Amino acid sequence: MGPLSVPPYTLHITWKELLLTASLLIFWNPPTTAQVTIEAQPTKLSEGKDVLLLVHNLPQNLIGYSWYKGQIMDLHHYITSYVIDTEMIVFGPAYSGRETVYSNASLLIQNVTRKDTGSYTIQIIKRGDKFKRITGHYTLYLYYGPHIPSILSSSPYYHSGEKLYLYCFADSNPPAEYSWTINGKFLQSGQELSIREITTKHSGIYGCSARNLATGSVSSAFKTIQVSGKWIPASLATGF
Ligand SMILES: *[C@@H]1O[C@H](CO)[C@@H](O)[C@H](O)[C@H]1NC(C)=O
Ligand SMILES: *[C@@H]1O[C@H](CO)[C@@H](O)[C@H](O)[C@H]1NC(C)=O
Repeated sequence: MGPLSVPPYTLHITWKELLLTASLLIFWNPPTTAQVTIEAQPTKLSEGKDVLLLVHNLPQNLIGYSWYKGQIMDLHHYITSYVIDTEMIVFGPAYSGRETVYSNASLLIQNVTRKDTGSYTIQIIKRGDKFKRITGHYTLYLYYGPHIPSILSSSPYYHSGEKLYLYCFADSNPPAEYSWTINGKFLQSGQELSIREITTKHSGIYGCSARNLATGSVSSAFKTIQVSGKWIPASLATGF
């Protein structure tokens, strides 16, 4: 056994303590301290808006609260704390300047960005010698987009008989639903548009519409595709 191995009795005591903690939480806590729940207002959040993480069932006799970004409660993930006795607010390395902790433990996040998504943890510190930390988690989702779509194609110029392939992408959460138009007329739905053997009749303005069903927003982009009947040498085509 190396010098760093944990002696077996340490593990034994830890398990005993864990069991004791569990039994305390299950049987001895008064009902008001049973379960801390976090609710977000609004529940459907979009970019640039504010969100309030409301803490419900807060226990009595508290020292204060600390909020963390993520589920790891270390200094790196530490956003802010509220100390009840002194009404003092403390900021940590994960504080972005947009978070406000209230005396009732709720956390306001202003001007939400995509970087703010993910989980949040509150640590509630109770007075007393033992078993005094209570945690609560909330996972923040953000709905955004669709942004202006990009239409990818191998070239804006095609020749009769070639295969036309267009691909549309718009950044969106949840992912967008796509549809295609030619000269304003509906063509098909789906992110890709492929026509096996095109003719000059396939020339026109191709439109891609991206729709986010959660935000209800639609965003469109257009691309002109020219199909020529006969092959044009590259040197001539670039001269136009
Ligand atoms: C807590 O305080 C905030 C800000 O004053 C308020 O909006 C919220 O309704 C309060 N209540 C709870 C349960 O967090
Ligand atoms: C939120 O965004 C608005 C507009 O961009 C800005 O005026 C305001 O200062 C921002 N608030 C915070 C807390 O960053």
